[in-house]
Amino acid sequence: MVKAKTLVVANWKMNPETYKEAEKIYAGSVVALKKASKVKVVLCLPYTWLTDFSHKEKKVVSFGAQDASIEVKGPHTGEVSPTMLTSSGVEYVILGHSERRALGETDELVSQKVSASLKTGLRVILCVGEKTRDLHGDYLLFLRHQIINSLNKIPKRYLKKLIVAYEPVWAIGKSDDEAMNVRDLHETSIFIKKALAEIYGPVEGMKIPILYGGSVSHKNAKDLLTLGEVQGLLVGRESLNPKKFESLLLSING
Ligand code: 13P
Repeated sequence: MVKAKTLVVANWKMNPETYKEAEKIYAGSVVALKKASKVKVVLCLPYTWLTDFSHKEKKVVSFGAQDASIEVKGPHTGEVSPTMLTSSGVEYVILGHSERRALGETDELVSQKVSASLKTGLRVILCVGEKTRDLHGDYLLFLRHQIINSLNKIPKRYLKKLIVAYEPVWAIGKSDDEAMNVRDLHETSIFIKKALAEIYGPVEGMKIPILYGGSVSHKNAKDLLTLGEVQGLLVGRESLNPKKFESLLLSING
C-alpha cells in the first residue's frame, strides 16, 4: 500500500496586505514546496488571489479557500459558492475555523457548509477545537459535541473527502513553545478518532485524517507530527514566511 503523503495546509488568513507581497510569498512557497516532494501542500489564500494563482503551477500545489457558502448561487451578497471554487481550480476549503466561529458561525451552519462543499466535490478541512482546557475534562465533552454537531447528517459516502483539523483555540497565534505539547496532542487525536468512529463506525471513522494547527513552526513541526501522531499540519503565520515555511517542509520531508 502506498503511504499517504503528509498534508500541510497553509492558512494565510487575511494576509498579506497587498497583491505584490502575495505574489512574492506565493513564488517563495512554490520554490519551498518543490523541494519537499514527500509533503502535499495546500495553499489556502484570500479569495482575491486564490483563483488568480490557482491557474498557475497546478501540478505541484493545490489550492484551498478559507470559507464557502451553503448556497449554490443567487442573491447572497459577499458570498462565494463551492461550485464557484471547484470551477476555478480550487480543490479544498477550510470550514468552521475558530476565527469564523468567533464571528457567530454555529455548529449547525458549519455542518450545512460542510454538506454543501462535500456535495460539490471539494475536499473539506473541518476545524474543531476547544477554547480553553480545564482539569475536569469538560473540554473533551465540548470537543465531542462540536465534532458530532459539525458533521450532522453528513453521510458516509463523503468521508473520503473529509479532513478534520484540530486547532485548540488557546494555542493559536502564540510562540512556538506554546503550541500544544505532543503527549496531549497524541491523546486528543485518539479522542477525536474515537468520536469519528462513534459517528461513522470504527473502520471508516478511523481513516479520516487528523491535522493539528496552532503555533506550528519549523522548530516544532516534526515532533507535533510524529509524536502527536497526526497526519498533517494546519499552519498560519509560518506559511507567510517562505524561508521558514521551507524549513518547516524540509523538517518533515523525511
Ligand atoms: P498560527 O499558526 O498562526 O498559530 O495559526 C494557526 C491557525 O489558526 C491556522 O488555521
